Amino acid sequence: MIRIDGLCKKLPDGRSLLNNISFSVKAGEFVGILGGSGAGKSLTLRCVMGLVQPTAGDIIFSRTKASGEEETFCIQNLSERRLREARRDMGVIFQGGNLVKRLTALENVMMGRLGHISPVRSWLYGFTDQEAKEAYEVLKSMKMEDYASRRVGNLSGGEQQRVAIARAIFQKPALYLADEPVSSLDPKNARKVMKLLKPLSKDKPVIGVFHQPHLTAEFCTRVIAIKGGEIVYDGAPDLDAATLAMVYEGELEEVAREPASVAADASSGFAAEEVASLRPGTITP
Ligand SMILES: Nc1ncnc2c1ncn2[C@@H]1O[C@H](COP(=O)(O)OP(=O)(O)OP(=O)(O)O)[C@@H](O)[C@H]1O
Ligand SMILES: [Mg+2]
Repeated sequence: MIRIDGLCKKLPDGRSLLNNISFSVKAGEFVGILGGSGAGKSLTLRCVMGLVQPTAGDIIFSRTKASGEEETFCIQNLSERRLREARRDMGVIFQGGNLVKRLTALENVMMGRLGHISPVRSWLYGFTDQEAKEAYEVLKSMKMEDYASRRVGNLSGGEQQRVAIARAIFQKPALYLADEPVSSLDPKNARKVMKLLKPLSKDKPVIGVFHQPHLTAEFCTRVIAIKGGEIVYDGAPDLDAATLAMVYEGELEEVAREPASVAADASSGFAAEEVASLRPGTITP
């Protein structure tokens, strides 16, 4: 479980970037965060990861230790060492996959557990055969086993994103955080990745930042919309046209138009019904 309570981030000049962001996400929930550019979506995730120190507010993270004991702590109060430990329990999936391009898909998946093994073993990339087998099984569950020995730099964006998800799964985190995991993908691959993310939320909370309201409506269990650093919507994933217009204001047309431009690319594998679901008219009031 992750609980964000009264999160605020102000700049030294007094400008407010986040203002009283509060929400909690538990296992079983796949929460999609929507909002225009510069709204504060990534900043919120960066605070959760302890990469940015908030000006005020608490980020409370619960995880089950190997001993089975439940542990709860405030992310922003942790020492560097404890924060690194806490991050091992956060499976992070970013746009572009933040993978090591010169390593193979299998090696990248195994990197997900680097934080869990001793420094000497990690320095030598000393994974056991059993760990390699497990990593292979996770790749297989993503239908990526044929790519196991391929260098990640030579894989397509969609394939790389599946490797990134496999790596996060192999990490066995207590929480999944995804920042625009499908933004660089064509609609067909974006849907594939959403289909892989959704089941992760069965046991662990999943929070993802998206720019595609039609995908969050279809796959997420709940949507939170951020605007100007504040939560302006928290509820059912299928936002109505008026709410979407309020969230995106002037950007709404761009959000609606963007995927349609991919439709012009015949090689993208864009399904006709997806084009229809994205027409500006469907979400413009
Ligand atoms: N470390 C920082 N110092 C100063 N300003 C920052 C910092 N990090 C983010 N910001 C500002 O905070 C605001 C929110 O940024 P954030 O990255 O969260 O936007 P976003 O909602 O993720 O937008 P996008 O959809 O474009 O990725 C932006 O105006 C950004 O310039
Ligand atoms: Mg962002």
